[in-house]
Amino acid sequence: MSVPIVRTLAELRATVAAWRRDGAKVAVVPTMGALHEGHLSLVRAALARADRVVVTLFVNPKQFNSAADLAAYPRTENEDAAKLGPVGAHLLYAPNAEEIYPEGFSTTVSVSGVSEGLCGAFRPGHFDGVATVVTKLFLQTGADVALFGEKDYQQFHVVKRMARDLDIPIEVVGCPTVREADGLAMSSRNVRLSPIERTVASKLPQILFATAERLSAGEPIASALGEAKGAILAAGFREVEYLELRAAADLSPLDPLDRPARLLVAAWLGETRLIDNVEVGALPSS
Ligand code: PAJ
Repeated sequence: MSVPIVRTLAELRATVAAWRRDGAKVAVVPTMGALHEGHLSLVRAALARADRVVVTLFVNPKQFNSAADLAAYPRTENEDAAKLGPVGAHLLYAPNAEEIYPEGFSTTVSVSGVSEGLCGAFRPGHFDGVATVVTKLFLQTGADVALFGEKDYQQFHVVKRMARDLDIPIEVVGCPTVREADGLAMSSRNVRLSPIERTVASKLPQILFATAERLSAGEPIASALGEAKGAILAAGFREVEYLELRAAADLSPLDPLDRPARLLVAAWLGETRLIDNVEVGALPSS
């Protein structure tokens, strides 16, 4: 059975208000649709933490860097709704564009610090677009808890910071990256990979995991990252935008590896940009 769909803020608010009258705890899972197991894992995590789960589906024009990328973004709403029913989500909020950006909309939520560097350096305005839409989705749903994937690790930090800074009473929870059998992080954009590119793509997580192990074994950061970058290019990627080790807690640069860390990458495979990241344990203090 498909999940019920609402398209207006008024309907969303009426539904959530009725749940609240019954004392329900409410979770929100923001998405841009083209749902895969990664998204569904967030819904399952939401069901474990709340009584009612709203999934949002809005392909947010403000966070795209090119009109072509926005136009090419997969849109599969009927299939999405059909996937959400069996998982147990209670509502799909797929707002009409004017519910999010009405005529004359003039506000931008901009988070400094964690949104700078990494993807922020290569996608100008992207995290402003994300922070602005997620602020609206938090306020529109009034949810108690929100689930985000660690796949988009910097986004998770930007959203957490935003909710904290603006005193939005919502708990922002990060969930592990769901991967294909060969290790490739699931992504709505993976469908754009040609069969050959799809084979090359699986090398990215392999290199990340191997590099994470070498770093945790005490190999110097600069040489390990340099070799990993070479390996990504040798595997068939066109360009490595960044490959960086950052502190897991706040994404600040770190050397030596004296705190739990994250190894993050963005790389182009043909016309597709892939991002991924893996955990790196801190070195034992001597
Ligand atoms: P989207 O790319 O659709 O992702 C929605 C949520 O699913 C995000 O929290 C993302 O991190 C998570 N996700 C994607 N792939 C995943 C995977 N393989 N494993 C676990 N979680 C995964 O991220 C966005 O949409 C947008 O920026 C949004 C937050 C909805 C704002 O527009």
